Amino acid sequence: MPREWDATTYDSLPLPHLGWGLRTLGRLPLRGDERVLDAGCGTGRDTAGLLDRLPAGRVVAVDASVRMLDQLRTRLAGRLDRVEVVRADLTEPLPFTGEVDAVFSVAAFHWIEDHAALFGSLASRMRPGARLVAECGGLGNILAVNAAVAEVLGAGPEQRTWEFAGVEQTRARLAAASFTDIDVRLRPDPARFEPGGQLEAFLATVVLGAHLDDMPAGDRAPFVAAVAGRLAEPVVDYVRLEISATRA
Ligand SMILES: C[S@@+](CC[C@H](N)C(=O)[O-])C[C@H]1O[C@@H](n2cnc3c(N)ncnc32)[C@H](O)[C@@H]1O
Repeated sequence: MPREWDATTYDSLPLPHLGWGLRTLGRLPLRGDERVLDAGCGTGRDTAGLLDRLPAGRVVAVDASVRMLDQLRTRLAGRLDRVEVVRADLTEPLPFTGEVDAVFSVAAFHWIEDHAALFGSLASRMRPGARLVAECGGLGNILAVNAAVAEVLGAGPEQRTWEFAGVEQTRARLAAASFTDIDVRLRPDPARFEPGGQLEAFLATVVLGAHLDDMPAGDRAPFVAAVAGRLAEPVVDYVRLEISATRA
């Protein structure tokens, strides 16, 4: 199973994900009675947004993290009759019954190395004609943060944490997984944080979480401070990959 997340801290942060979620919701056409998969739903912020848009519909909320899904259940208490909460790895056969009418995803796909397996797994649970509308980190994402990490860690074997895919690569992977009507684009979208700890908290919980998992506890805060200190500004240089495609 993929890594665990600190869901409580995650929800306490000023997340650029909020804007990404609203933007992605705005790209997903819905009648209101569909069954929609929220792929990598996290703590359910956009699952709630989907439920608002689906008065007669349902959401299948899939994530690999137990803590993220616990937080989602708390957030959506009272609305869980219309949510199927599923703990699963999105690259594996998905353990829910039937097909979905659409797939939605925010800030999850770049945590998954094997996009061919991911798109294949999603396609296998989408009805023909179902729409995939997603966004994630794309080619060129967080180059400055990554350069700071490399400086702090020094030479060594490259740690492959993310898949920041490009437009043509993603188009080809989607087509191979039987998607048509494919629209993929990159959008530079830097996020600025307040000085005085906000940037460090965000880096530790979101961007560098996987790096910290492999570190002794005492090394973590100094590592995050060293990376933050090497950035010219309190900015995470995000580049988002925006995906729309239809299951053939
Ligand atoms: C940055 S969070 C985004 C969560 C939520 N969509 C949001 O925008 O706040 C990334 C999420 O992807 C999930 N994730 C990463 N790899 C996964 C995988 N292989 N299968 C299922 N979920 C995965 C993580 O557990 C995490 O909840």
